[in-house]
Amino acid sequence: MKFTNVVLAASAASMVCAYPKGREVVPSKRSVDVKKRSTGFTWVGVSESGAEFGSSLPGTLGTDYTWPETSQIEILRNKGMNIFRVPFLMERLTQGSITATPDATYLAALKKTVNFITDSGAYAVLDPHNYGRYDGSIIESTANFQSWWKTVAAEFADNEKVIFDTNNEYHDMEQSLVLELNQAAINGIRAAGATSQYIFVEGNAYSGAWSWTNTNDNLSGLTDTEDKIVYEMHQYLDSDSSGTSETCVSSTIGKERLESATTWLKNNGKKGIIGEFAGGVNSVCETAVEGMLSYLSDNTDVWMGASWWSAGPWWGSYMYSLEPSSGPAYSTYLPILEKYFVSDSASVSTASAVEKSTSTVSAVETSTSTIEAVTTVTPNTQVQVSSAVESSTTSAAPVETSASAVSTYVPTSAPTTMVSIQSPSPVASAAPTSSVTGTPSGSVAQHYYQCGGKNWTGATSCESPYTCVQQNPYYHQCV
Ligand SMILES: *[C@@H]1O[C@H](CO)[C@@H](O)[C@H](O)[C@H]1NC(C)=O
Ligand SMILES: *[C@@H]1O[C@H](CO)[C@@H](O)[C@H](O)[C@H]1NC(C)=O
Repeated sequence: MKFTNVVLAASAASMVCAYPKGREVVPSKRSVDVKKRSTGFTWVGVSESGAEFGSSLPGTLGTDYTWPETSQIEILRNKGMNIFRVPFLMERLTQGSITATPDATYLAALKKTVNFITDSGAYAVLDPHNYGRYDGSIIESTANFQSWWKTVAAEFADNEKVIFDTNNEYHDMEQSLVLELNQAAINGIRAAGATSQYIFVEGNAYSGAWSWTNTNDNLSGLTDTEDKIVYEMHQYLDSDSSGTSETCVSSTIGKERLESATTWLKNNGKKGIIGEFAGGVNSVCETAVEGMLSYLSDNTDVWMGASWWSAGPWWGSYMYSLEPSSGPAYSTYLPILEKYFVSDSASVSTASAVEKSTSTVSAVETSTSTIEAVTTVTPNTQVQVSSAVESSTTSAAPVETSASAVSTYVPTSAPTTMVSIQSPSPVASAAPTSSVTGTPSGSVAQHYYQCGGKNWTGATSCESPYTCVQQNPYYHQCV
């Protein structure tokens, strides 16, 4: 999904990070049954954005990126969600080089978020939100990728509620490389002794479900000694499946876009999950999303669940935000999702966990006060967080966040589920060289990439045939 809003990080001083202070939140095993209709799903939940935001690498906590609010996760958990996908950046975990030792601070914060989720009985998905790239370049070394995953999985090897997502939305890569990188990740994870967990593999072309069979057929050849591979596909319901418009194609498009992938899963004896999906707040999309969930639940022999894109503290008034309770999608879509929650896992954490987590409430209040969103109406439902803009003390370009895109981190800012036709030739060399400042000035920005905006220092012209369009004062984009 390409950028659809701009969230400017407020100053570090005014943004307070509220990740858990440690593993002190230990909900008891006691759970309260929540009666839901049995859907056969294993997981229904949401992504929890924040740690992948920002253009600076490694960037500054509170300025460039943040961690999800555990108190907000807890609200969704108590409603019955049982899977939370946690996007983060490989460049922040292993800084400077893909083979570097994990940064202790970022790793500790990642673990705290993950442990908060898994201690509640839910599943946490580790999502390196990197589009098959590290520092702007396509990851070509399967050995390095395998080693990266071995290192990371070792940190979570004893937590069976962790799920490893090999990478977010490979795109414009050689199909064989996508196959090999996924296999390398699987091998690295298992070699780390992480043998009990599920592994989510993603495909090329932004892992789109609608184009899966055309693009990702040979991923059926992936093997796992533990036989716990789940094919994670993404699907949005706007015209190009990019998740950039609140207009859905029709009220039946959700189901329609999953049909060929469903057949593929069945024919190949595989399991799948829709790892990102969303629709705008309007009746056509609501019907389409419900139709999609209903269709998935009719096919739970292959579909294990679905995870909404997205929640997180810095979304502001982003159209798909499911952040309780102010996210624009929250009041509309939570009740729809709720019908599909997994009943036997809907535990309600106990008072002790709640009490502990309320220690983060003041932080939540502080940070939300800095992200009072002001919706700027533009033709493409762009929104920006004006108050944050004003209070920003960062000199860098604004931190844009896309649906799953990573801000001005240029190589990853491409649409996440833009399931366009694959480039006929390898495009590795065409990808902008990443740096902490994004596209080097003087180069040409690619389709969907940033090409201007206040204080933008990167490329201001677009590759043919695209033109640079001002989406808002802080963000111009090649479309
Ligand atoms: C993967 O798929 C691509 C495109 O269909 C094909 O060219 C390539 O040979 C396949 N690679 C393997 C290892 O099967
Ligand atoms: C842009 O640059 C000017 C001058 O360098 C600075 O005062 C301003 O805060 C910057 N704006 C943003 C949004 O970073």
